[in-house]
Amino acid sequence: MQHAHYDMGVVGLGVMGANLGLNIASRGHRVAGYDPDAAKAEAFARRGQTELDGIDGAETAASADIDTFVGGLKTPRVLLLLVPANVVDSALDSLVPHLGEGDIVVDGGNSHYPDSEKRQRRLAEHGLHFIGMGVSGGEEGARHGPSMMPGGDAAAWDRVRPLLEPAAAQADDGSPCIAWIGSGGAGHFVKMVHNGIEYGLMQLIAEAYDVLARGLALAPEAIRSHFVAWGERRLSGYLIEITADILVQRDEDGGHLLERIRDAARQKGTGRWTTEAALALAIPTPTIDAAVTARGLSDFYGLRQNGSATLAGPQPADGQSALMDAGLPRALEGALEAAMLLTYAQGMHLIAAADAEYGYGLHCGTVARIWRGGCIIRAALLEDLSAAYERDAELRNPLFDPALGARIGELQGNLRKAVAAAAGAGIPMPAMSSALAYYDALRSARLPANLIQAQRDYFGSHTYERLDRDGSFHTQWAHAADS
Ligand code: 6PG
Repeated sequence: MQHAHYDMGVVGLGVMGANLGLNIASRGHRVAGYDPDAAKAEAFARRGQTELDGIDGAETAASADIDTFVGGLKTPRVLLLLVPANVVDSALDSLVPHLGEGDIVVDGGNSHYPDSEKRQRRLAEHGLHFIGMGVSGGEEGARHGPSMMPGGDAAAWDRVRPLLEPAAAQADDGSPCIAWIGSGGAGHFVKMVHNGIEYGLMQLIAEAYDVLARGLALAPEAIRSHFVAWGERRLSGYLIEITADILVQRDEDGGHLLERIRDAARQKGTGRWTTEAALALAIPTPTIDAAVTARGLSDFYGLRQNGSATLAGPQPADGQSALMDAGLPRALEGALEAAMLLTYAQGMHLIAAADAEYGYGLHCGTVARIWRGGCIIRAALLEDLSAAYERDAELRNPLFDPALGARIGELQGNLRKAVAAAAGAGIPMPAMSSALAYYDALRSARLPANLIQAQRDYFGSHTYERLDRDGSFHTQWAHAADS
């Protein structure tokens, strides 16, 4: 590896690190890689030689030796970390002693946002700049164009931007799906919410599949044709597209692979973090919460097998006719669109609240814009969300954009039909029904919280406010048992 020759260093040459490193190099940069596993370092260098052959200015090298790697970088050095969230601190422990004043470390993993804030402070004590950057798009995105959400030390952005921007995905209008998000943990906060929305959308799609497969007993090819048709209209998006592919994937013996996959969903934690952050900020994100819970519930595999034999529900044949009477599968398309819009709305509302609380200085419109391409939740609906922020940059909850609100209003009948019919058929729709309840709660001028306030005051003298008078009130509630 040549001394002080490389524009950027990538630390961690696993799937994401190697692919993003090659992507950045392929835009005409010299990228050095480091991984303590020599086999990974060699594989990265080898891929560089074949995949970047003939690309002007593109060059890669790799080492399993940290001194050689750091020495190979031009100063001030730019290092991009792509290691699992639980080893970021130990990676920093080994790197920091080798770095010098003004060097920049970008953490491109799925780190928790409070950790990114701590790391920025820690590195600043050494005169180093830290950027916490969400990266979305999986392996394919990393290699050919992910959506990237950098935040943290803004002083470092100008140096890093020309390296990262060309590697980002482009939206249909040609704009790059990367933008400075804001200060502190803003980049990783936004990526966390992206993943929370991802959980919500995936669960909504899974519920639609469940109604079609279990409720209406449709074959995978027939279900696929619905997803394909929906994907050609307003539901066009990455998750709908991959679902159509998954439905017809065959196993080695020709059977449908999907039917043989154990129905217990795993999670790495970013969805749960979103729910925790929303609870801490008192922002309702019920569809994301329901999706997190649904994954947990699916994992109670043995209990469910037991329940399927012992707990009563409607007869499958009754359920099927209830679903058809309700106009399914047709109504599902509109139900999904409404519920998906409501999920994005919950996530954006959370981001707006975090910005107000933590002073990130972010713009929700920018977030919606850079999610239009490259990331897992990219979808045509994000064009509508983005347009809503163009109309009103201060919009806190996209449901209150007149056009989006009107659209959900047009679709709410479908959402009701789908939720009611699935309930009648005994098919759980935790995400879709929570989206409907969220919508109905936000259009209710009066909710039964008056009763909750009265109950709190009854048993705990917690006081309540009145509609007709200012102040705080407590009542000596008459005990029926005493009268
Ligand atoms: C992305 C994905 C990516 C990863 C998820 C999976 O945006 O590219 O979100 O970050 O696939 O973290 O998360 P779970 O394992 O929790 O489903």
